[in-house]
Amino acid sequence: MLNRPAHGGNRVWAAQLAQCAPHELLDFSASINPLGPPQSAIAALQDSISDLCHYPDPDYTALRQVLGAHHQIDPDWILPGNGAAELLTWAAWDLAQLDCTVLLTPAFSDYFRALRLWNAQVLTASMLYDSQSLRYVHPDGQAGILLNNPHNPTGQSWCCVEFYELLDRYELIVIDEAFMEFTGSEGERHNSFIAELCSGSYEHVIVLRSLTKFYSLPGLRLGYAVGHPDRLRRWQAMRDPWSVNSLAAQVGEVMINDHAFAQATWDWLTPARTQLEQSLAQFPALTPRPSAANFLLVKTQSSAPLLQAELLQHDRILIRDCLSFPELGEDYFRVAVRTAADNQRLLDALSQIPSLQG
Ligand SMILES: Cc1ncc(COP(=O)(O)O)c(C=O)c1O
Repeated sequence: MLNRPAHGGNRVWAAQLAQCAPHELLDFSASINPLGPPQSAIAALQDSISDLCHYPDPDYTALRQVLGAHHQIDPDWILPGNGAAELLTWAAWDLAQLDCTVLLTPAFSDYFRALRLWNAQVLTASMLYDSQSLRYVHPDGQAGILLNNPHNPTGQSWCCVEFYELLDRYELIVIDEAFMEFTGSEGERHNSFIAELCSGSYEHVIVLRSLTKFYSLPGLRLGYAVGHPDRLRRWQAMRDPWSVNSLAAQVGEVMINDHAFAQATWDWLTPARTQLEQSLAQFPALTPRPSAANFLLVKTQSSAPLLQAELLQHDRILIRDCLSFPELGEDYFRVAVRTAADNQRLLDALSQIPSLQG
């Protein structure tokens, strides 16, 4: 038997429980845009196959230029990575040089992976019942903080001005904006710290972005860090050369300008999320939390791992249990927002489970 996964989207593990092939599962556990990948990305992928016989440009000049134009920032402030996960490893290295790192919990399990790797001292602060908890933490010594906006798994978002007060208190502030694109152009303007970071030339702030969720390419692996050029040059010198493959780099150059795909995603997400949230709230045993992202965290009076097993075995539907978030345990599950038809399949399956009916 395979180990219970710490991340969503582990279809091999789930297919074994459901006794089916991985492609037969309906996956609500990984928060991936169901409209993608965009056609523009598939076309770029096909075009880039002929370049596989060459090494990628080690400086990713073209990709950094496209990303710089997208954010209206200097490309020297951008470093592409093999998913946000790779860049998190280097951000964690920098955090580990400080006396401690503050982490709001529940926290994405990869934060612990990356911080533990470099023996960072971690100080956790619960935000489950108090979204303002970042105000109350006063660590001793030189401290860093690792934040996630919008936050996985709660779906909470912060306006970027709320981070201003952290600028004087922390030696290093890392903001993981892996799900920021889902908040739309308005959300980006209010919530993302990228524009502030570059206009203020802050040397001690890093923003991490993922391109795998919004563009539905988690298998391709692509993300980027925005930070001071000196820091990014240091990371580039430390890490493996060519950590972004040429397919991912060339797809990234094209799809970031696919405005029609982005608009279609925003047009789909807002009503689909509201509808799913309201329908889940109809179950007496379930309480979904409002979310700014493309997933919902749901409190359940019925054990989440048991629900997960039941949905897998009867319906081949995979939801995300929250056992990898120790503060949540069996009382919560997380579901991605999918298409209206997929969401309805989930709701129909949940309506067959007696323990959810109150
Ligand atoms: C909060 C958060 N940050 C970063 C990542 C990693 O994203 P990527 O696929 O770009 O490595 C994930 C993936 O689940 C995530 O949930």
